[in-house]
Amino acid sequence: MKPLLMINFKTYEAGTGENALRIAKIADEVAHEMGINMAIAVQSVDIMRISHEVDIPVFSQHMDPIGFGSHTGWVLPQGLKEAGASGTLLNHSEHQLDISEIEKCIDITNRIGLKTVACASDPKIAEALSVLGPDYIAVEPPELISGNISISEARPEIITNTINLVKDIDRSIPVLVGAGVKTRSDVSKAIELGADGVLLASGVMKAKKPRAAILELSKGLK
Ligand code: G3P
Repeated sequence: MKPLLMINFKTYEAGTGENALRIAKIADEVAHEMGINMAIAVQSVDIMRISHEVDIPVFSQHMDPIGFGSHTGWVLPQGLKEAGASGTLLNHSEHQLDISEIEKCIDITNRIGLKTVACASDPKIAEALSVLGPDYIAVEPPELISGNISISEARPEIITNTINLVKDIDRSIPVLVGAGVKTRSDVSKAIELGADGVLLASGVMKAKKPRAAILELSKGLK
């Protein structure tokens, strides 16, 4: 697989509504210009509009393990699919699920054709989640999320340990790494350590010049 740059818009102001559409279009343009594999995870309310305007895959940041019916306020997987989502993050450290819920989510997404990025806070959790057969694993140490020191710099052993444990379970599951990833060298170091891509948010969402930030991060994948 070509390495993946995945940008999580979270609920940043820059990642909401009109602003989200603007950054999604920039990400789409940079992905084409640079010929790299890029995806974005946006708020579920923005999926329909953004997915109609960009070619890169648009993911949800969360889904709930439910089907059609009476589930007021929950995030329905079929609704995400119909809105144009390619997949969803699951169990992000800011929106955790228990393991039985994650298992149900993966079962539903397999049936309806959505990809899953199962998030883990450490290598052991990543190992446990990889048994459930998600399409991607993402490991992000929570204490480094939104900070200025990246997982690549501060905890490279989390990257290598996660890769070893996950690939022992299933070699075909790509491992993304994240938390504090903001520079080209954070990305290239993660790739050198064996990661299949990076998952990041504030490096783009808080950047004064999002296009320059995405371009710079993209160069780290090369
Ligand atoms: O999902 C991405 C994430 O939690 C990392 O956030 O701001 O440290 O890149 P950030």
